[in-house]
Amino acid sequence: MPTIMYSYSTTYHSNNMAKVAVVTGSSSGIGYETSLLLARNQFTTYATMRNLNKSEGLREIAAKEKIPLKVAQLDVNNDSSVDNAVDSIIKENGKINLLVNNAGYDLFGSLEEASIEEIREQFETNFFGVVRTTKAVVPTMRKQGSGTIVNISSVGGRLGLTPFGTAYHASKFAIEGLTESQRHELADFNINIILVEPGAIRSNFVDNIKTVKGFDSNKSPYAKTVQQMFQGLESFFASSSQPVDVAQVILIAVNSPSPELRYPVGKDAESIFKARTELSDRDLEKWVRESYMEKKGFVR
Ligand SMILES: NC(=O)c1ccc[n+]([C@@H]2O[C@H](COP(=O)([O-])OP(=O)(O)OC[C@H]3O[C@@H](n4cnc5c(N)ncnc54)[C@H](OP(=O)(O)O)[C@@H]3O)[C@@H](O)[C@H]2O)c1
Repeated sequence: MPTIMYSYSTTYHSNNMAKVAVVTGSSSGIGYETSLLLARNQFTTYATMRNLNKSEGLREIAAKEKIPLKVAQLDVNNDSSVDNAVDSIIKENGKINLLVNNAGYDLFGSLEEASIEEIREQFETNFFGVVRTTKAVVPTMRKQGSGTIVNISSVGGRLGLTPFGTAYHASKFAIEGLTESQRHELADFNINIILVEPGAIRSNFVDNIKTVKGFDSNKSPYAKTVQQMFQGLESFFASSSQPVDVAQVILIAVNSPSPELRYPVGKDAESIFKARTELSDRDLEKWVRESYMEKKGFVR
């Protein structure tokens, strides 16, 4: 794993000018900032989103700065939306060089109280959404003999950090396994597949959390643990990073001639992965519980 101290000089790479990038979930947060940063670095960037009504801000910046950013409709849950978007980007450009699988959300509530349908929906976006877009672009990248796929995982993709996010953690663990395995499949075709693992990021992520239907944090049998977790969330986000910090790491990764498998982002991610490596499972579990329930935070 690389050290977390990335060089943030976003060097101008003139060879990006000929490259075509597709970013999912660009209406806010990490996807928004990544689309802008890629376009500002001369990638012809398709900032995709499921609801184009949210594209005005990006369109205005692109027009003002005269950067090569276009918006396109793409709902990662929907086969034909993914196929239509990818087909028309390929028709327009003849290629796709970079895919950033970013779209995702968090389902909040106890596993016991979540319906199978809600858990399936979580996987539909966070896991099958990645599968859908990846399957759509790989044939083109394979024929080109090059390409890069960035999968936005999470620190929660390598450690079950918080309770009431079981399906979220499971979906991100699934992305980690998919990426590790597919990296071997794609190696012979000169296609890089990379994991970016953010810690806490101040995006719209918390506002976009979906709560399990009927999950009442006061009346749930899990109320005591929920309250402890809410109190700990402050320390969880105390050392948070900005979406643009993730975008900068993505740019560094995709400009690398030989990208690493994993790129953690944020001081909390650094502490979490250090603890993951150094502590026994029992001590790690204790550390995680102290970090959010006793409000000690993840950066020590
Ligand atoms: N924020 C964090 O602390 C954090 C930490 C680790 C990892 N991450 C990961 O980072 C990624 C981006 O999250 P964020 O922090 O930038 O949160 P965000 O601001 O809530 O952005 C999430 C994006 O995903 C989009 N999206 C959700 N479902 C979609 C679908 N079916 N099709 C297309 N787009 C869809 C949202 O679109 P709408 O506007 O239409 O809802 C939004 O653009 C996620 O995969 C998340 O799991 C976030």
